[in-house]
Amino acid sequence: MIVYDKVEQLRLQIKQWRENGDTIAFVPTMGNLHAGHLSLVEIAKIKATRVVVSIYVNPLQFSPGEDFESYPRTLGADLNQLEALGVDLVFTPDNSVIYPEGEQRSAFVDVPVLSHIIEGEFRPDFFKGVATVVLKLFNMVQPDIAVFGEKDFQQLLIIKQLVQDFNLPITIVGGETKREADGLAMSSRNNYLSASERDESKVLAETLQIFRNHIEQEISIKQAESSCIETLENHGFLVDYVTLRETSNLDLVSDVQAVSNRSEDKNEMIILAAAKIGQTRLIDNLKFTI
Ligand code: PAF
Repeated sequence: MIVYDKVEQLRLQIKQWRENGDTIAFVPTMGNLHAGHLSLVEIAKIKATRVVVSIYVNPLQFSPGEDFESYPRTLGADLNQLEALGVDLVFTPDNSVIYPEGEQRSAFVDVPVLSHIIEGEFRPDFFKGVATVVLKLFNMVQPDIAVFGEKDFQQLLIIKQLVQDFNLPITIVGGETKREADGLAMSSRNNYLSASERDESKVLAETLQIFRNHIEQEISIKQAESSCIETLENHGFLVDYVTLRETSNLDLVSDVQAVSNRSEDKNEMIILAAAKIGQTRLIDNLKFTI
């Protein structure tokens, strides 16, 4: 497995592979890899002949006061896992490669509307940081395919929009959320949880299922929302949002029947949730049709 930290090395290797007729699948990560990331690599391996993974903790997607400094950095263990999976190349740029002039002096990209709702209301600059670094990485790697986790569902839609708006010849593929045995969605931030918080954290995924059951039983959306928020609060969560949206564009669902009567590609709904337990902010989602 090749490990490069410079764009020139990366580009030369990609050029050689392309001359040999290879296709490139790319999995961008911030490292501290878990089974969720590894499942994205497995998808990438099926989709192309060469797999490139990047590991870069992007300062632009963290606000002051968030966990940029403490974000877990486990490069050695990450490289071992990627090598064992047969990844061809890991790109590990540092800030001087991604933001030579400093991240606050670099051009940025902002995907309108989608970046500023739901998660974007609580983390106003987050998706600007994500879209900017992903566009930069796409320009560096120039993949045919890129794979992103569905746990960050809003991020996935924003990347799809970015690719469409900038006419990038890249197919974006979503990988389903991997969960612990008790249902907690895998995330690097789960490492922050104390034993008792870890125990309570399973309630987030359970609450999404309860929300869905409420909707199936034709309980009003408002009532379903407030009962789920109450359940989470009773388990010590501080809730940012629990919200029912259309999967295709994240529009608010106000009439479940109207959405479920639509054609197959437009009738799916998604419950999105974000809540803090102790100091750790968790997100999760659940897609369903009725
Ligand atoms: O999902 C992540 O890990 C990050 O947001 C990403 C896409 C690697 C950009 O830094």
